[in-house]
Amino acid sequence: MQELVRHVDWVGHVDWNIRDFHSYDTHRGATYNAYLVRDTETALVDTVKAPFADTLLRNVAEKIELSKVDYVVCNHAELDHAGSLPAVMQALPNATLLCNAKCRETLSAYFDISGWSVKVVSPDESISLGNRTLSFLNTPMVHWPESMFTYIPEEKLLFSMDAFGQHLATSVRFDDQWALPHLLQEAKTYYANIVTPYGKQVQKTLEAAAGLPISIIAPSHGLIWRKHLPEILAAYQAWSSGKYARKALILYDTMWESTGQMAEAILRGAVEENNGVDVQLLHVRKTTLTRVATEMLDAAAVALGSPTLNMMMMPQMAAVLNYIRGLKFSSKSAFAFGSCGWAHAGVEHLAHSIEELQWTRIHEPIKVKYRPSEAVRETCHSAGRLLAQTAAKPVAG
Ligand code: FEO
Repeated sequence: MQELVRHVDWVGHVDWNIRDFHSYDTHRGATYNAYLVRDTETALVDTVKAPFADTLLRNVAEKIELSKVDYVVCNHAELDHAGSLPAVMQALPNATLLCNAKCRETLSAYFDISGWSVKVVSPDESISLGNRTLSFLNTPMVHWPESMFTYIPEEKLLFSMDAFGQHLATSVRFDDQWALPHLLQEAKTYYANIVTPYGKQVQKTLEAAAGLPISIIAPSHGLIWRKHLPEILAAYQAWSSGKYARKALILYDTMWESTGQMAEAILRGAVEENNGVDVQLLHVRKTTLTRVATEMLDAAAVALGSPTLNMMMMPQMAAVLNYIRGLKFSSKSAFAFGSCGWAHAGVEHLAHSIEELQWTRIHEPIKVKYRPSEAVRETCHSAGRLLAQTAAKPVAG
């Protein structure tokens, strides 16, 4: 356990072995952060996933008798945080659950809360613990409708729930104890895969939080920000406002390497443009949806390639499109390419998907039967140059 400030301790669980968090590839594990604030009265802020209730309660019991916990704050009803609430409320006989009205409604859909002491809190009230105060900020859709932040003004300490989190299992708890570039990359992966659809709400939340003096941001996943607050706040500002890097992404699947050869020709053209654009090539069956979304977050221009399989695009490319459609990546520039034996269905479905996403088409779909000829490879090469030229222009979503 680690102390954030005097008598505010991390009491959560480190999940070293989780590798799949509802399809998010958690290759570095995860944590479910919970915090114990001890004052004249004691509050447990957030809980953990159901299987780890015992760890949480053991951590709390090392600091205070369980019967002396007065409040449990539920900032977010998703079950990675609220799943252990039935066990926690049973083990803390004198605790009142603090949550907003929407959260109470959600929790009552998951659990029988009739035996719990529940106090609904709103942003215009606060709970005094003695020398310190809990205040609340509703942050709807960051990440669920009931989400809220809890803030302790006396410590300038913000419990930010999922926001600013990372899926990362570590033996340390603070941002200055880990390499910042890697930490920001994990925060970006988290943002891309969890938060992207809610950019507008993130902007509103950042505006509201800007009025608060903050020294520590304690999210419910990953490391706690106490040193690099400017960096993570600037990153959230950029990600949520749809700012792009000078970056082009080529995503493809291939059956007998024809679409693969087209992807390579596009790559060569984009790299030869040599204009400082970061060009990434991803075979969608040799990477993860999580990586695709992370690279997509700040890519300005995208090429999508697939052959035809059973009059459809390849299944993993369909999964990619399904995923990025849900994540609502907006305002990309794109084109489609692909090979087939006798029907151009795969590439046509891709072209249609680009229209559905309301991305800007920068090139006609590039289609070929069986193997790309030299002329087709040249077309792909030129399209690659165009991709890099497009990505070099500063564009905002
Ligand atoms: Fe970590 Fe939206 O739950």
